[in-house]
Amino acid sequence: MNEQNPSSAKVRVDLDARSYDIEIGPGLIARAGTLIAERLGERQMVIVTDSNVGPLYAEALQESLGAAGHGGRTIQIDAGEQSKSFAYLEGLLDDLLEEGLERGTVLIALGGGVIGDLTGFAASIALRGVEFVQIPTTLLAQVDSSVGGKTAINSPHGKNLIGSFYQPRLVIADTDTLRTLPPREMLAGYAEVVKYGLLGDAGFFAWLEDNGTALVAGDPSAQTRAIMRSCEMKAEIVNQDERETGRRALLNLGHTFAHALEAETGFGEGLLHGEAVAIGMILAFELSAQLGLCPGEDAARVRAHFEAVGLPTTFPSHPGGGWNSATLLDHMRRDKKVQAGKITFILTHGIGDAFITNDVDPTQVAALLDGQAAAA
Ligand SMILES: NC(=O)c1ccc[n+]([C@@H]2O[C@H](COP(=O)([O-])OP(=O)(O)OC[C@H]3O[C@@H](n4cnc5c(N)ncnc54)[C@H](O)[C@@H]3O)[C@@H](O)[C@H]2O)c1
Ligand SMILES: [Zn+2]
Repeated sequence: MNEQNPSSAKVRVDLDARSYDIEIGPGLIARAGTLIAERLGERQMVIVTDSNVGPLYAEALQESLGAAGHGGRTIQIDAGEQSKSFAYLEGLLDDLLEEGLERGTVLIALGGGVIGDLTGFAASIALRGVEFVQIPTTLLAQVDSSVGGKTAINSPHGKNLIGSFYQPRLVIADTDTLRTLPPREMLAGYAEVVKYGLLGDAGFFAWLEDNGTALVAGDPSAQTRAIMRSCEMKAEIVNQDERETGRRALLNLGHTFAHALEAETGFGEGLLHGEAVAIGMILAFELSAQLGLCPGEDAARVRAHFEAVGLPTTFPSHPGGGWNSATLLDHMRRDKKVQAGKITFILTHGIGDAFITNDVDPTQVAALLDGQAAAA
């Protein structure tokens, strides 16, 4: 592989007996049957996909599986976050069992994070666990949700509250699939790419400052390189802390703020998760600068980069009565990561140097949020 300009790459997630590869690059759906056969032999497969991705890629995947000697069929589920629910999980399990799911059957999640989370959870509980493969088709899923083994559905009490830690046997990130991704979804996923640079690799962030615009415009070698570096960093952190008792929380940079913004905007089209994370990371840097922990120019660089690629950098228009720091802080206190009433923040000493703390004075946070709300 050419380090500067890779066309394809492989990242190993090291978890003893549960280790697996992430294959990254163009044209991989056509090779998926072989890539799976190399690891799992010839198997029965069920492709689980959604109503946007299925019509684009399920047939090509089915052909690739067939050519490598696997048997299989496709289950298509409605696209959208509402499919991460008990009702859809039950429907999926019923469909699988009705057609004679066996212990050796492999589930393949072909789609974005919604399909990956739902299929992974189903795989972890069907027949007490069948193997599964992730074929992520959004940038967000390729750099984040398909790696690390968190699976979940949502509850009326909150997002991702019901799920399991369950690792896939293989992840295949075909960069060609990103060509059909709506530009706004591409940018939302890109925010999570930038997150890796900001939390732990200043050199990668500097590279993104130079190459981010080409990446989101569709440059496949920039995409492969960025996905590879993101997956390496996530794999390394997951390897050290699979169940998020410590360091894995660094991956939540920007997310304490983001979840509060999403709760206010209703977790919908008004503000995509990655857009909220971009704003949240700006806030994390500005809070760190305000507390004297991080140079102000680093916070300015973060804001400037998100502006340059076209991600939102300010609060969107509020769907109800306007932004309010007290309400946002209430959302943060209700987050599942709160411990003994203290909100966990990921703050930073500078670009590439994030740390975890639950020792932040809420009045400082309120001051920052009020400033943003006034500017919105
Ligand atoms: N398990 C984890 O560690 C983890 C981490 C981050 C996010 N998540 C979860 O991931 C979900 C969000 O994932 P997402 O952003 O991929 O959303 P998504 O799965 O809803 O995909 C976004 C949209 O793009 C469409 N789409 C997907 N691939 C496409 C393609 N190649 N071409 C055209 N359209 C395509 C989908 O149908 C959908 O409409 C959330 O539910 C979130 O909770 C999980
Ligand atoms: Zn995220």
